[in-house]
Amino acid sequence: MNDTTLQFENSAAFAARIDERDALKSFREKFYIPKQASGEDVLYFTGNSLGLQPKTARAYIEQELKDWETLGVEGHFAAKNPWMPYHEFLTGQMANVVGALPAETVVMNSLTVNLHLLMISFYRPDAVRNKIVIEKNAFPSDQYAVQSQLKFHGFAPAESLIELTPRDGENCLRTEDILETIRQNGDEIALIMLGGVNYYTGQAFDFEAITKAGHDAGAVVGFDLAHAAGNLLLKLHDWNVDFAAWCSYKYLNSGPGGIAGVFVHERHATSFDLPRFAGWWGHDKETRFLMDDKFIPMRGAEGWQLSNPPIFQMASLRASLEIFEAAGMNALREKSIKLTNYLEFLLGEIHDARIEVITPNNSAERGCQLSIRVKNADKSLFKTITEKGVIADWREPDVIRVAPVPLYNSFTDVYQFAKILKDCLK
Ligand SMILES: Cc1ncc(COP(=O)(O)O)c(C=O)c1O
Repeated sequence: MNDTTLQFENSAAFAARIDERDALKSFREKFYIPKQASGEDVLYFTGNSLGLQPKTARAYIEQELKDWETLGVEGHFAAKNPWMPYHEFLTGQMANVVGALPAETVVMNSLTVNLHLLMISFYRPDAVRNKIVIEKNAFPSDQYAVQSQLKFHGFAPAESLIELTPRDGENCLRTEDILETIRQNGDEIALIMLGGVNYYTGQAFDFEAITKAGHDAGAVVGFDLAHAAGNLLLKLHDWNVDFAAWCSYKYLNSGPGGIAGVFVHERHATSFDLPRFAGWWGHDKETRFLMDDKFIPMRGAEGWQLSNPPIFQMASLRASLEIFEAAGMNALREKSIKLTNYLEFLLGEIHDARIEVITPNNSAERGCQLSIRVKNADKSLFKTITEKGVIADWREPDVIRVAPVPLYNSFTDVYQFAKILKDCLK
């Protein structure tokens, strides 16, 4: 699949032909694909909501159950994969997924919890510089998180929240407008916190340009990578991003409520003067069990940990990260661009004014998801495609999100989806 000049065709035979040539095609076999009542695989397009179960996840979790059964507390040191350092087994692979140095990432907690913990350290407002920049249509949890952080510091969201809004008649934000907003409000912005890929529109932001503009203005720049980790080719370290947080149950297939990840750039590795909410798992691991009451944080992202982490959650994430390592993010992103471009091509062939793709049409500005706006918010279309075996999702007020995931979706899946959509619109 090295041909970047692929001429798409609207036919099942064409889709089957590119599936045949797909170097990643065997990876689908590594996942359980849910079935329809007929016994056929569903057309699963919600890896942006909950990734599918790697077939190896059970064995990874069972290993830990077994060690708990036979070793009890001794499993912390004597388990096949000792629990004491277990989170470290995931660090290198997770760092590769997001383009970070190992010391810059750690898995811990859940996403919104981590956003708060990082904002405690990186949102340092004062009387002049106290504003937070976010997308107007950011995921609600991010909105609640930044609004509550503002209030926690005594600022009113109505005055201190700058919401980036698309121009009239447009669906997505223009990078030039984001940069201009940062420039215009530069002296007052303490923090820029955007979703790396917007959950609703599927728009991916220009991380590097936004980070640079934020830093030039004297602000801190963080990203919520819920929809970007395992989806885009990220280079958090090189882009100089200050911090980031992401969940692992979407593209990273760790299972419902799976353990989340954080990134803290290495230049903050020893920023021990920053306030942080501390817990024993962030304390220097050499002296943790001396049970001293003086907190000595670890260098790097690990120093933000609070609690001893959940082994079963980490075990299932590990099963998935092994698969990511075998596939490689470069190859996954290359296939993803083709798969989504193919979906876009087929949607364009439908020619029906009742649907409109609101995701940017440039692959550099999106991940795998396309958001299809349905005129008059007619949810019946979504219900009908669901009855035909499509698992996509509906996001209020009027969007069907479809995310072909390169690890387990095929060009044939995409072809069948577009055909069903077209038939249902008739
Ligand atoms: C962009 C974004 N932020 C935050 C969240 C909330 O995640 P959690 O419930 O893991 O805190 C989600 C969940 O889907 C999300 O998509």
